[in-house]
Amino acid sequence: MLLVLKPDLEEVGREAARMVASAVRRNPAVRLGLATGSTTVGMYQELVRLHRQEALDFSRVLTFNLDEYLGLSADHPQSFAYFMRQHFFSHVNVPPANIHIPDGSIKGDYRQYCAAYEQSIREAGGIDLQILGIGRNGHIGFNEPTSSLGSRTRLKVLTQETIEDNHKFFAPGEEIPQCAITMGIGTILQARRILLLASGASKATAISNAIEGPVTASVTASALQLHPEVTFIVDRDAGAQLKQQAYYRRVLEMTVALTPERM
Ligand code: GLP
Repeated sequence: MLLVLKPDLEEVGREAARMVASAVRRNPAVRLGLATGSTTVGMYQELVRLHRQEALDFSRVLTFNLDEYLGLSADHPQSFAYFMRQHFFSHVNVPPANIHIPDGSIKGDYRQYCAAYEQSIREAGGIDLQILGIGRNGHIGFNEPTSSLGSRTRLKVLTQETIEDNHKFFAPGEEIPQCAITMGIGTILQARRILLLASGASKATAISNAIEGPVTASVTASALQLHPEVTFIVDRDAGAQLKQQAYYRRVLEMTVALTPERM
């Protein structure tokens, strides 16, 4: 596990974008797992800048988004599909055929739909680099506490806490979805490399539980302890409750010196 501590959200976004860009340059046909949420906005902004100013080319990149609200179609302003267009896809050259986002408007055979989403990831050869945010309750994707650590893409009922956290994005009086389609923890753990971004004091407990707590379905991000190639990029406030900060700093220095390709 690598922990990169940055002073603020802006620097978290810039560092994440640098790592994504270097993965794209190393393999122009890289398969990216993408996340939404306010924490990721700066990363997408910086990737758009790199595309415009430094010709970062996404024309062969494949993308798979983590999750989507059930009941929202891709043109609903609060859908994750809309978020992705607004912050990323409408500004870069990922071909539309290479973009995969769970369809929140499906009705009926959810199991079959979710199995097909998993199948499309497998057929593409798996995800090379998965981006994650984290919920206040330690969720990744929409894998709420008590999600099976072996779970695959499926429907998930959102906790009250998550519904309240996401309330701010919806218009007053507008109904907030109770369910989502999300990649599972098992799906996420199969990515070859994982980057988790976190910012702000409201994420400090989740980050310390995820990194220094026991592996438990009660904090689904703690399952990342089972993955061999995870990098956390967190700002000072989100990392404030970590006990081993000095050690993580030394690990990072040594990694830069001895195995810079991991950066
Ligand atoms: C939602 C998403 C998560 C994301 C989380 C945090 O719950 N499903 O993938 O990590 O929001 O969002 P924010 O970055 O806005 O705090």
